[in-house]
Amino acid sequence: MLRAIPVLCLLGLLGTAEAPDLLPAAEPAKVEALPDKVSFSEQIASFVYTNCTVCHRPGEAAPFSLMNYNDTRKHARSMLRVMTNRIMPPWQPEPGHGDFRDERRLSGPQIALFKKWVETGMTEGDPAQTPKPPEFVGGWPLGKPDLILTMEQGFDVPADGPDIYRNFVLPTGLTEDKWVNAVAFQATAPSVVHHLLYFVDDTGNARKMSGKDGKPGFAGMGFRSTVQLGGWAVGGIPHRLPDGLAYPLVKGSDLVVQAHFHPTGKAENCKLTLGLYFAPKAPTRTLLGLQVPPAYGLFSNIDIPPGKANFTVKDAFTLPVDVDIVSVTPHAHYIGKVLKADAQLPDGKEVPLIWIKDWDFAWQGTYDYKKFIRLPKGTVIRGEVIWDNSPDNSRNPNVPPIRIAWGEGSNDEMGSVNFRVLAADEKDVPLLRNAIRLHVAQAYKAALKRGDKIDHWLQEFGLKKAVDQPKAPLKPSKEQQSLKLDDLDGKARQPLLVEGAKANVLLFLATECPISNGYSPEIQALVKDYQDQPVRFFAVHPDSDLSTDAARKHTKDYSLPLPVLIDRKHDLVKAVGAKITPEAVVLTAGGNIAYQGRIDDRYPDLGKKRNAPTRRDLREALTEILAGKPVSVPRTEPVGCYIPDAR
Ligand code: HEC
Repeated sequence: MLRAIPVLCLLGLLGTAEAPDLLPAAEPAKVEALPDKVSFSEQIASFVYTNCTVCHRPGEAAPFSLMNYNDTRKHARSMLRVMTNRIMPPWQPEPGHGDFRDERRLSGPQIALFKKWVETGMTEGDPAQTPKPPEFVGGWPLGKPDLILTMEQGFDVPADGPDIYRNFVLPTGLTEDKWVNAVAFQATAPSVVHHLLYFVDDTGNARKMSGKDGKPGFAGMGFRSTVQLGGWAVGGIPHRLPDGLAYPLVKGSDLVVQAHFHPTGKAENCKLTLGLYFAPKAPTRTLLGLQVPPAYGLFSNIDIPPGKANFTVKDAFTLPVDVDIVSVTPHAHYIGKVLKADAQLPDGKEVPLIWIKDWDFAWQGTYDYKKFIRLPKGTVIRGEVIWDNSPDNSRNPNVPPIRIAWGEGSNDEMGSVNFRVLAADEKDVPLLRNAIRLHVAQAYKAALKRGDKIDHWLQEFGLKKAVDQPKAPLKPSKEQQSLKLDDLDGKARQPLLVEGAKANVLLFLATECPISNGYSPEIQALVKDYQDQPVRFFAVHPDSDLSTDAARKHTKDYSLPLPVLIDRKHDLVKAVGAKITPEAVVLTAGGNIAYQGRIDDRYPDLGKKRNAPTRRDLREALTEILAGKPVSVPRTEPVGCYIPDAR
């Protein structure tokens, strides 16, 4: 449900006072350097054509055209006011906080020149000398797309009323997987199109929601998808992703375009056509999403009392490996006010990443850094979102303000700073991906601990199970205990059946997890130290994609002296509830899980490592079991890589 929002009139926001002098101190207006005479033909035309006309031209969403002297003269005073207040050209990020491609920012002297022209009578100069207005050729700016998808039916945008957010589903019909590195669009009524976000849906959910209210597509902003393919806002220039990067587009999936329509006073029917550009081959580097705070703030207790002016959420993420930052997409709804992020390097130095001081929901953008920002392992990425739910916030849709909590509708709020990142070394992708997942999981746990009211969302996201998970430890059933698996030498093993021994130790490992591999010497020592004891060790690879040959090579490379099993269908994972590699599970007679968790505490957290462990939890548990005593610390948190889902 969309609530009526006041149409944002920028001049309204500014009040009626004369434009205050807001030229930034860092760029003093060089008044002495200004030419004596300023005319349209000599200076102003090229300035306006370069900075304004891309949006202010016929057919675009900006409210009037700036294509000639007369247009400019007519609007000159408002132009000066919005320039001085830095509202036009629209550009949200503060200077000095990220160096972005296609930046639209006027310098102090540029504004001073325009001011002088206005104050000296807006002379035209010699029309013969006036440069020609830019020509905007239609068609596809990046050339012919590889795949063109068109809405079946146009959407009616009325002449008047609130802005409309609407999602349209475009089936790709692809019979093979592709990699997308750019998206462009055409519209039958471009003047109503304010911004677009592109998503991929391979679940079929969007399709089901489409058309239910009798109109094309479906309403709301809450669509969740597998991949986001970036977006576009008025004046945006489509680009291909740099350096051979690309987003995956799985065969059979649907493209979902979320459109923000802005009524113009004239009813329009708008049909969108999307053009997809494919990368010739799979990228060699993997784009990952990192959010501070994670999950758009779902786990950050966003519950904003009416009248509260500075509701703040802060979050931090420590990089477990060297990382390149590619782009940033800040996101909040109407009462979001400030979005900010920086990086604190291991030496304490701070690198600003983005700062939006006065968030405007109408100008959501993805900002691409001109050059990837390389940040070393151990860097802390800090994010901050501030909301303003006071009556003084002119963008507050509720008068008087009401309580606003986290949610997917436009009446609700969410907020986070989203980065697209790459591991500097592609080999580190699993570690980075795991650290990001752990970051989400930790926020989720903290939310449960605090008792945040998120039950409804957990259910919606299918996370309810985790909340209801039984506190009692799992115990493999009789049937599971008799499970047989061949080891790499073809010998049948029953790792869950404790017979002729006091304990079976299952060590869940992963060939590509550096923490898991780092434990190989300790695993060798364990097997050796317990060789005369009634303890049997098994290594388990819970990996559907691992071939027997690859497992053999890994076993040899890391000199693992124990039977190695491949748990391709996750029979063992499910029986004992393993989640991480490396993770140790100790079973005693009858299939009881006497200990489960880390091998020792040498990794306090991802990205952090002690020189030597201070607790050797697995060994301590085994000592107690062999002495016939109960295990005093039966559960610990393993630190390592998440076990990927089975196929
Ligand atoms: C990226 C596209 C874009 C560029 C570039 C741009 N504008 Fe705008 N402008 C808009 C849109 C869209 C609006 C309508 C208000 C809105 O949607 O925020 C607008 C509105 C305005 C308004 C009317 C404000 C109001 O609230 O009615 C003025 C004046 C203006 N622009 C001046 C300029 C000037 C001067 C420049 C160049 C220095 C410029 N614009 C560059 C897109 C643009």
